[in-house]
Amino acid sequence: MTKLLTLLAEPPVDPDIAHGYLNLLGEAEQAGPPTGITQRLMRTGMLPTVYERWWRPALGRIAKGPTGPSMAGEHALAVRLLGLGPGDTVLDVACGTGGFTRHFGGVVGADGLAVGLDASSPMLAKAVAATPVDSPVAYLRADAVRPPLRDGSVDAVCCFAALHMFAEPAAALSSFARVLRPGGRLALLTTARHAWQPARTVDTALGVASGQRMFDRGEIANLLTERGFTAVDVRFAGVTQFVGATLA
Ligand SMILES: C[S@@+](CC[C@H](N)C(=O)[O-])C[C@H]1O[C@@H](n2cnc3c(N)ncnc32)[C@H](O)[C@@H]1O
Repeated sequence: MTKLLTLLAEPPVDPDIAHGYLNLLGEAEQAGPPTGITQRLMRTGMLPTVYERWWRPALGRIAKGPTGPSMAGEHALAVRLLGLGPGDTVLDVACGTGGFTRHFGGVVGADGLAVGLDASSPMLAKAVAATPVDSPVAYLRADAVRPPLRDGSVDAVCCFAALHMFAEPAAALSSFARVLRPGGRLALLTTARHAWQPARTVDTALGVASGQRMFDRGEIANLLTERGFTAVDVRFAGVTQFVGATLA
């Protein structure tokens, strides 16, 4: 927690760590304006109990299609796209129950830090409970769109399965560029609408019903390039895209 406080742009005078994570949202139910049913579900008490074992693997498989990576494959891909190694500081934006954050903690080791940021108290409670106390992992309750970290303070930013449910995804990408050091790495897993028009229409309807934005192919890569990212590497799987990029 001490290491996490050093990363903050404005460390609180009296930090609220009563629940095992640093809470910067106080009593607020969520961060930013609501975006729909999926984001709301993430704040329920029931979802965190089934999220890592059932919900995420099942919905992920539907979204990624039969040829997309498994959950273990996603963990490995995230580490590769982020170029993570011992001693690194990584911010896992919208960490949910912390499955990726814990994995990153094992990679960065005792000299590094994996920070899991989320706005949902039930998700963070589950993440804290699942994380050994001596691991190099800390959790932060804050807004993913504007992470309260210092400029250039982290080596890597991961944001899997969440950008499409933020109220301001483009502003979130600007924030990710701001908190990364020059040469830092970004990894994203988000939506990607099919190019074929009939499939595109179905994708759009699904997005509207679930309150999740369906990005067009090329849209995220363009937003990243506009924000100073280079080496933008995009792989499509079903209605998803895995994106890796380096901040120039
Ligand atoms: C589907 S989960 C993704 C969890 C994890 N990254 C994964 O890949 O399994 C999406 C998470 O985004 C969080 N979230 C949505 N909008 C947010 C916001 N504006 N600020 C912080 N967290 C947010 C939700 O609380 C939820 O835990």
